[in-house]
Amino acid sequence: MYYSDELIEEIRMRNDIVDVISSYVKLQKKGNSYFGLCPFHNEKSPSFSVTPAKQMYYCFGCGEGGNVYTFLMKYENFTFVEAVKELARKAGISLPEQEMTGEQKKAADVRTRIMEINKLTAKYFYHQLRSEKGRRAYEYLKGRNLEDATIVKFGLGYSNQTSADLYQYLKKQRFGDDIIKESGLITYSEKGTYDKFRNRVMFPIMDVNNRVIGFGGRVMGEGEPKYLNSPETKVFDKSRNLYGLNNARLSKRKYILVCEGYMDVIALQQAGFTNAAASLGTAFTSQHASLMKRYTDEVICTFDSDGAGVKAALRAIPILRQAGLSVKVLNMKPYKDPDEFIKAVGCEAFEERIQQAENGFMFEIEKCKAEYDMNDPDSKTKFQQEVGRKLLVFEDEVQRNNYLDAVSREFMIPSEQLQRLVAAAAITENGAIKRERGEIKSIAGRRKPQESGLQKSQKLLLTWLCENPELYKKISKFISKEDFIDEPYSAIASDVFAQIEQFGECNPAQIMNRFTQMEEQTEAAAIFHTRLQGGEELESRDFAKALEDTVRNVKLHALEEKEKQEKDLKKVQEIWKLKKEWKTKKLQF
Ligand code: CTP
Ligand code: MN
Repeated sequence: MYYSDELIEEIRMRNDIVDVISSYVKLQKKGNSYFGLCPFHNEKSPSFSVTPAKQMYYCFGCGEGGNVYTFLMKYENFTFVEAVKELARKAGISLPEQEMTGEQKKAADVRTRIMEINKLTAKYFYHQLRSEKGRRAYEYLKGRNLEDATIVKFGLGYSNQTSADLYQYLKKQRFGDDIIKESGLITYSEKGTYDKFRNRVMFPIMDVNNRVIGFGGRVMGEGEPKYLNSPETKVFDKSRNLYGLNNARLSKRKYILVCEGYMDVIALQQAGFTNAAASLGTAFTSQHASLMKRYTDEVICTFDSDGAGVKAALRAIPILRQAGLSVKVLNMKPYKDPDEFIKAVGCEAFEERIQQAENGFMFEIEKCKAEYDMNDPDSKTKFQQEVGRKLLVFEDEVQRNNYLDAVSREFMIPSEQLQRLVAAAAITENGAIKRERGEIKSIAGRRKPQESGLQKSQKLLLTWLCENPELYKKISKFISKEDFIDEPYSAIASDVFAQIEQFGECNPAQIMNRFTQMEEQTEAAAIFHTRLQGGEELESRDFAKALEDTVRNVKLHALEEKEKQEKDLKKVQEIWKLKKEWKTKKLQF
């Protein structure tokens, strides 16, 4: 890092976390904290908290958390340095202009350097497309009806045929192998080092802030694989990015068109549908949906019209609906995808199809119906029961009744009969609904790995100390910072103890500055937001008991670890004695 710790802390202090996050998330005050809907996972009731006293945010649903810097890194996909720059600008603090030396460059954070490599690589491919070697690639793109302005707008390029041209180029720019490897652009193997993309038309993939996070490369003409994509890296998370969203978010149209591929987005945007984005053939995720929800309330699916496209739509619809988006499905038949549609019949025809797009729920029911034989009474009954079950996804009664009416008309199921089926499904499917909700929760909570009781005790104690620094006097006769054994607890404990000793309180958001990598920040944030099972804080008598147990656990764990390290038998015996004492000792706070 090339800004001083003092400066980083000064900038952090001048940006109140409630102010910063309020400009992205609607927050409501509740007790000492503010709550809102988490921007990092889908939820209907707020578990995303912002606590002014800690100057931190934390989501009790998905476990994302940190200080103002972490928030911008997560939300805007900024690197740490970019987050510092943005908040300095907001607070009107001027930053020293510093040319980085080779040494400092090496120390700057990994994400920043991968982004630098990506940017240079995109430029490199761009120039190749315009060189003699790239002529065929340029002709290929022209052959696919792309205008020059479009090629420029999307920064399209060409990766040449030679085996390690890009690698040589990056080495010449003085990037080390460690970081080049992290960029995913070069394949390292026993046979040698060579460029991952060779002789392909290149599509740089940009995040919503126009930074290049990865690449896709297409063979010109036939060949396998048709598309090759960058692997996931520290800056490229496929489940959190959509191709073309950087433009689509700025479009005047109020809905977003989601399609499958690079060429679809490009063809649509060239035809004036600047609101097109693509999931790039990867499975559609709830993070994709949350990301779009930031910019729109309505999504129109324009997936391919083949079986795979229908399947993709059926998968995406519930995910989009869960995120609170209204969903429609566009029919492209007889053409395969938006690119082919527009090439064949043009943009007015596509606009018409947009007007005719079908409601997502009705689309689901229609596809469901195709699996039943309406001439067979049993099969027909099963279909109608299924419709009743499906209507239960609408928790809001008014909305459910409106859908019930629409389905009843469209599929000719008498309205009263359908109402009875819904009621019956609500009873028999109660368990199933719970299961479904449980599933949603487990997806949201997937990032939290199973933690051991000992880890939990260390975290609890640190949370309590930070929220209630007076505890320090009580517990410091029993526990010292050395008793926090595992990382990152030990580093954090050392800061917490030092701050309380010096200032009588602790400043968790400052401690967070220690960590510039997102994964570390998330883990550290949880250490300041740990709750006992059940969530709510305990009555004072119960709390004393919980505190005693927690202190004991932490101490015993420390002793056990010490025992493992100790070679001297005499000392080991001393530890045994201590352990025995601690197991039964009453702690008087
Ligand atoms: N895709 C991929 N790898 C493949 C095939 C497809 O990553 N081997 C992704 C690409 O992002 C592609 C999208 O899935 O854009 C849709 O695939 P497909 O429909 O096969 O390609 P098109 O977009 O129609 O590509 P083109 O028009 O260039 O043939
Ligand atoms: Mn296509």
